[in-house]
Amino acid sequence: MTTHYYKRYRMECDLTQGAISIPALPEDYVWQNWRAGCEDRHAWVKLQSFREEVDATVFECLGDYQGCLHLMRDIAGQDGFLSDATWLISLFNPADGKREDCGTIQAVALTETLASIQNVGVTPMHRGLGLGRALVSRCLAECQAAGLHRIGLEVTAGNLAAVHLYRTLGFKVTRTMYRTVDVSAWLV
Ligand SMILES: CC(C)(COP(=O)(O)OP(=O)(O)OC[C@H]1O[C@@H](n2cnc3c(N)ncnc32)[C@H](O)[C@@H]1OP(=O)(O)O)[C@@H](O)C(=O)NCCC(=O)NCCS
Repeated sequence: MTTHYYKRYRMECDLTQGAISIPALPEDYVWQNWRAGCEDRHAWVKLQSFREEVDATVFECLGDYQGCLHLMRDIAGQDGFLSDATWLISLFNPADGKREDCGTIQAVALTETLASIQNVGVTPMHRGLGLGRALVSRCLAECQAAGLHRIGLEVTAGNLAAVHLYRTLGFKVTRTMYRTVDVSAWLV
């Protein structure tokens, strides 16, 4: 077996340091709150967001629709699932009334005071518009409103866009870890 080690950070944000503001979305982008049965929409955005990224190598399920759907159902089925902190962003086309889902975030409470962001993803065509910052900010604000004190996540250290986003929103690295991935299949 040939293995590759991916450096990962555990990052945490203190939610007790004052109100968190949520940036406005660009024109025609809209928030879609959690509704039972919309796991497939989150799974689709998750797949489009992660399939070409390093995390689809680190976590195989993120590179496959069934894997993303299974993951989404698992998250939504957890006791601590925070539906109020779980959001989609969609682009609404006023001309034809159609909507394209392009951003997702989910959160789970691990204890009475600690929550965890599961996955944040923005589809490639919609990046750089502030949607990632809006998703994480909204998730933090909703967790704060739910009385949580801290929120954590894990991120691959080489994912510079995500690490930058989290740092600028107040997250600090609390631990460095390495995830082992079998890359034998790459060599054949
Ligand atoms: C991470 C991700 C959600 C950011 O979404 P986004 O909508 O493009 O984010 P924003 O437009 O809000 O930009 C956030 C910040 O990232 C910065 N950024 C973007 N690409 C960057 C890069 N390659 N290196 C460093 N910073 C970068 C932006 O400049 C912006 O910072 P600023 O506001 O200080 O200028 C998106 O890139 C994504 O979905 N990636 C794939 C999935 C993923 O890796 N998710 C994170 C898992 S932990």
